[in-house]
Amino acid sequence: MLRRLHHEQPESFAFTPANQAWAEAQITKYPEGRQASAIIPLLWRAQEQEGWLSRPAIEYVADMLDMAYIRALEVASFYFMFQLQPVGSIAHIQVCGTTSCMICGAEDLIAVCKEKIAEKPHTVSADGKFSWEEVECLGSCTNAPMAQIGKDYYEDLTAEKFAQIIDDLAAGKVPVPGPQNGRYGAEPLKGLTSLTEYESGKTQYNASVQLAVELGDTVKRIDGTEVPLLTPWLKDKPKPAAKAKPKAAPKKEPAPAAKVEAPKVKPSAPLPGQEELAARKGTWRYEGTTTTEAEEGQPPLLKAAREGGADDLKLLKGVGPKLEEKLNDLGIFHFDQIAAWTPDQVAWVDERLSFKGRIERDNWIEQAASLAAGEETEFAKRAKKEGIYDE
Ligand code: FES
Repeated sequence: MLRRLHHEQPESFAFTPANQAWAEAQITKYPEGRQASAIIPLLWRAQEQEGWLSRPAIEYVADMLDMAYIRALEVASFYFMFQLQPVGSIAHIQVCGTTSCMICGAEDLIAVCKEKIAEKPHTVSADGKFSWEEVECLGSCTNAPMAQIGKDYYEDLTAEKFAQIIDDLAAGKVPVPGPQNGRYGAEPLKGLTSLTEYESGKTQYNASVQLAVELGDTVKRIDGTEVPLLTPWLKDKPKPAAKAKPKAAPKKEPAPAAKVEAPKVKPSAPLPGQEELAARKGTWRYEGTTTTEAEEGQPPLLKAAREGGADDLKLLKGVGPKLEEKLNDLGIFHFDQIAAWTPDQVAWVDERLSFKGRIERDNWIEQAASLAAGEETEFAKRAKKEGIYDE
């Protein structure tokens, strides 16, 4: 297949402000003079934002990295993961056509794509909502046949089930991904034959499906608000300038100044170890908590993150993007807020957010205390390294 720029191109491209900040931060991962190494993540981010890579997007990224346009085009046209033509507004569907999937019915899935989307791959459907392509093995062979839709795998598919998923997506729903035949993960169809003691530890969904369900809209384009900016070395430092400023780069809104609401907190006994940790680290109880009436057990809440921005609460084991949003909505933006919670306050937050004991179970207080003191928990290290948010 020839991989060329599409014959119709948009006038311009610009990252959203949040994606711009993300892209500029990625560039700082590379040594001086090697910023062009950020080409793949930046092109990928542009694609995640728009769905495909247009010529203006490739040139925009090349400008940011001070690269010749042809060099950026070479990368974009070499890797098949980059879509060089428009894709469906809801999703570009990738059906695995390799051996396991082919034996188990991939050709039936492709027939569904031809019927429901377009006869030819890489063609947008008449309603503009979908496009499709056949791809090589996606590594989910034990759950064949399968397709990747948006950021998720839909596995153990039948033609009927796959057609239903496409209809649901067209209707604005995001069907639960993962195995579609009742399997939990990749265990035998008739259930576990060994390690059966792990049956009892099952949650509703397997871990990756659970994360997808918590994220909610996994066919949504990435606008930067849902993925954490994992560049802790830039924290509290002035934002780095991009090597080459792209034309018409959007300005980032300054972070709102922190305003403090006025809850009155009833003193109560600290959780085990909390006093000792507080004495060791000292500074968790943030300045400026006020003392007007509040519900019993309510912890000090903020109307907005303090200057410098909110902490990445997803570095706490047990917190995904959805929970972080809920915590922020409640007025919780910083690790030191969480580290200072008393048992009453833990109960108050637990009840408000229907956590069912998650705060204690995942030991948020101690995790938050370490993170507030600038230390790294094992989970935070893994989250940063692997880009995961939650287990
Ligand atoms: S053969 Fe389809 S996922 Fe591996």
